[in-house]
Parts: sequence; C-alpha cells; structure tokens
Amino acid sequence: MDILTTVNDLREAIRARRTYLKRIGFVPTMGYLHAGHEALMRQAKEECDLVVASIFVNPTQFGPAEDLEKYPRDLARDSELCARAGVDFLFHPDARDMYPLGSSTWVDVDGLTAIACGAARPGHFRGVCTVCAKLFNIVRPDRAYFGEKDFQQLMVIKRMVRDLFMPLTIVGVPTVREPDGLAMSSRNSYLSLSERQAARVVPKTLQRAREMIDAGEHEGAAITAAIEELVAAQPLAKLQYAVIVDPDTLTPMRALTHEARLLVAIFVGATRLIDNCALVPKAVAPPA
Ligand code: PAF
Repeated sequence: MDILTTVNDLREAIRARRTYLKRIGFVPTMGYLHAGHEALMRQAKEECDLVVASIFVNPTQFGPAEDLEKYPRDLARDSELCARAGVDFLFHPDARDMYPLGSSTWVDVDGLTAIACGAARPGHFRGVCTVCAKLFNIVRPDRAYFGEKDFQQLMVIKRMVRDLFMPLTIVGVPTVREPDGLAMSSRNSYLSLSERQAARVVPKTLQRAREMIDAGEHEGAAITAAIEELVAAQPLAKLQYAVIVDPDTLTPMRALTHEARLLVAIFVGATRLIDNCALVPKAVAPPA
C-alpha cells in the first residue's frame, strides 16, 4: 500500500493505473478506523480492482463548539488496518491542500438536510458534501462506500451525486456493531467506562421501536414518546432527537403506512452518538 499526501501525487498514482483497471473503489474516512470502516474497505476490495481510502479530518463539517481539535487520530494504526483490508492507495492530505487559499466553492443539498443532524449541526452537511465532491473529483472512483450508520449522510451524498450527474455509484454498507449492539464509531473512544455502559441505551431505543412496530404500533408519536422515556431513565444520557422519516425523502412520517427510518442522536456525557434502523410496519389489514 502507498500513502500519498498531496492531491497531485494521488492523481498521478491513480492515473498510472487507471487505464488497466475496470473499477476504482473509494472509501472516504476521517480516520481512527474500526471494524465498520474495515467492512467498507473489504466490500470495496471485493467489488473493485483498485481501492483508494482517504483519511482527512475535514474541518468544514465541524461546528465552532464541536470536537475538531480533539477528534481522535492514529495514522500508524490506521495504515495497518488499511493495508490489511487490501487498500492500494491511502490518501492523507492536509487541510491546506484540500482547501487551497481563497477556496470559496461549497456544495449544499437542500431539503434532506433540514432535519435530524442537518438541523442539529448547522453547516455540517455543507462541509461533508463539499469535501466529498472534492475527493470524488480527485479520485474519480466508479464506486464510493459509505456506512449506513450515518444514514442521513448516505442519503445526502446519494442525492448530491444524482443531482450533479457525478459519474459514480454510492454504495451503502450495513452498520457494524459491538457485541452489546452499540454501533461502531470513532467517537466511542471518548466514552468513560460508565458512559460506555450507559451508551447501551442507544441501540435499545432502536430495539424498543422495532418491538412496538412488531406489536402493531403505527403511530410515530407513540414510538418517539417511548424512546424519550427510555433515554430519560438513563441519567448519563440526553436525547437530542428521535425522528421517524421516509427513508428516501427524509420527511417526517406521522403514521407508519410504509417502511420508515428511525434516526436518533443521543448525548452520553459529552459524547454525541447517532444510530438508526429501518421500521417495517405490519401490513395494515385492508378494509372489509
Ligand atoms: O463519515 C465520515 O467519516 C465523514 O463525514 C466523511 C464522509 C469522510 C467526510 O468527511
């Protein structure tokens, strides 16, 4: 595996191989990699002839009071994981290379970003879309891999690619979880032992929602009220949002008339964790 740190070096390295290849796969990350990232890389390796991964803690997707400075970093460990997962080129640029002096172009996706993380983190998706557009233009992959853990991000990126006719396919990969159900996330490393125990409430909210659906509940408000109650009972946790949305448009659904997506964000101590799951309602019996 080669590690490239400038846009020009990466472009040159890919250019030398592109003509011989059928498919280039790309896995963008912010590093501090875990088994969830590894699953993206392994799937890319299975489906593509050359795999490029990037590690870039993108400053423009963090709000002023967020964790940009303390975001965990470990390039040595990350490069080992990438090499093990079959990555061919690892791109690790610095911010001056990704945002040259005077950069003034942004990519904004409307609508899908008005809710959930978009509402809770103003400017976040503008930063995500802008950096992904830059990375896609540098790497020019055929396929790019994103985790379903960041479901809203996945949908926003798919929309950007569709709307701007970007010539690649976005592939969503199922969330990888710890044995107790907590979704893998680089931010789990912030949790103290007691917070790590308390974080179990996050996957429990999804489980509770699915149980209610299986018991025949169709009212979104009843499900979100049960989630509020569950989180309120955990002293270290604070619910930021629990919303039930249409999986394609991300518009809120009051009644679960068809498959929906539950999105939750919960603070455990100072750490913000997000998760989501599909909610498939029992078929509503047709009127007699
Ligand atoms: O999901 C992430 O790690 C980031 O949002 C991404 C897609 C790498 C863009 O910085």
